[in-house]
This record gives sequence, C-alpha cells and structure tokens, in this order.
Amino acid sequence: MTDVRLLVQRFDPLTDEKPRFAEYSVPKREGMTVLDALLYARDYLDHSIALRFSCRQASCGSCGMKINGRLRLACYTQVEELGGEKVVAQPMDNFEIIKDLVTDLGSFFAKHKQLMPYVLRSDSQEMDHPSAEFLMKPEELEKVLQFTYCIKCGLCTSSCPTVGTDALFPGPQALAQAYRYLSDERDEGGKRRIDALDTAHGVWRCHYAGSCSAVCPKGVDPALGIQLLKRHVMSGKARSEGAEVWKQQAAAAPPLK
Ligand code: FES
Repeated sequence: MTDVRLLVQRFDPLTDEKPRFAEYSVPKREGMTVLDALLYARDYLDHSIALRFSCRQASCGSCGMKINGRLRLACYTQVEELGGEKVVAQPMDNFEIIKDLVTDLGSFFAKHKQLMPYVLRSDSQEMDHPSAEFLMKPEELEKVLQFTYCIKCGLCTSSCPTVGTDALFPGPQALAQAYRYLSDERDEGGKRRIDALDTAHGVWRCHYAGSCSAVCPKGVDPALGIQLLKRHVMSGKARSEGAEVWKQQAAAAPPLK
C-alpha cells in the first residue's frame, strides 16, 4: 500500500512569527481517517505535533479542523474520500491558535453559556427538587430534535463570515441552541433570552450565508434555527430593538408592486 502525503500547518505563537507547513509520509491503510494519519505522524514521526481529539467517533467534537480546505472532523473523514494521496490539515478559522491544529474555544463556549443553553423555569423550587419528570410532547420534541444533535465542535462558528468580522456576534452554534431552548414549551425564559439576543451584535447580524449548515457534521441546520429565532423575536414576545429597526426600514421601503 502506498503512503499518503500529510501536510500539517505548524504554528506556535510563543516562538513562531508565522505558520508554516511540515510534510510527513504516512503509510496508508484501509479505512484510515485523517485523525489516524495525524496520530501516526505524531506517534512515529514528530512528537511535537499538537492536535486535539478524544472519542474518535464523531461524538465529542474535539477534532474539528480544516482538511483540504474544508471544515471537517478529522475522525470522521477518511483519507480515501479525499483522493487518498494528499491531506492538508490546518486549524479552524475564526479562533486563536494555541498551537498547530489546536484552537482556543474559550470564547466559543463563553458565548454558548451566555445564551443560557438550559431550560429556565420560574418555579425554582421544582427545578432544584423535582417532584416529577418534565416531559416533552413528541410533536414538541420533533421541532427541536435536530438542534440537540450539536456536538459543539465549532465548525459552524469557524465557517461563519459574520463571526469573522464581529467578535461579539454569538455565532451559529450559540444562536441555534438559543432557538432550541426558546422554542421548548417547558421553558419560561423567553424575555431573558430575547433580551440577550436582540442586540446590535445579536441575532440580526446573521446575513444567512448558510455556511454553518453546510459544514455541520451532524446534519444540524443552524441557519434555519437562526431564522426561526428571528421570527420568535419579531413575534413581539418582548421589547425588540431589532424589530424597531426593521419597522423603520419597512416604513421607509418603497411599496411592493
Ligand atoms: Fe471526537 Fe473527532 S475525536 S469528534
């Protein structure tokens, strides 16, 4: 079996001025994933390669990176599906590089937390000391099910052009999760949630590029979630600065023919 050419972007911000590529020759085997190839290179050719992984089965979201120019999970991408000859591994865009393929996801998780990714209830006594299960109706679950598949890999946020230009924009992952909880009929956090989203850097900054949905390895459609979130905000459940802007624009727009 032939070898695969593995090019890894190397960069240590503590010592390097700019990124460079290092090339490794990795013996190919059937079913080999990009993560397998990277681990072979790290274990047998160069111990200094930095990469992040855990589950090796597309569940933990740790191994997101740019592979041959496209955002993917390394453990969920076979070398053969890339043509089998050359693999180029680079860190995700829109995040600071800690070293080589490892990016800093601190702001990503902070934004996720800021939008309260959990059910909010006013009956805190019941939340802290539940007397029963909080069940969802199957039809209600159906509405949000795809958004629960998010593994927080960061690929959607890395692909987002708005995240690339506005560091305060929550990004598609956090916004899609906000939709998931806002539309959960058990949730009572509507106003708090909308106040957190309906800001100059909030939900309205999404221009519907759709790249987030194109790269999600779990089939989630964050772009859809964000548009549904806009509808929630527009429905007037709470004070809506964004809605006011929209109303002004609508009033100034020429009449529809
Ligand atoms: Fe867990 Fe790839 S190692 S998703």
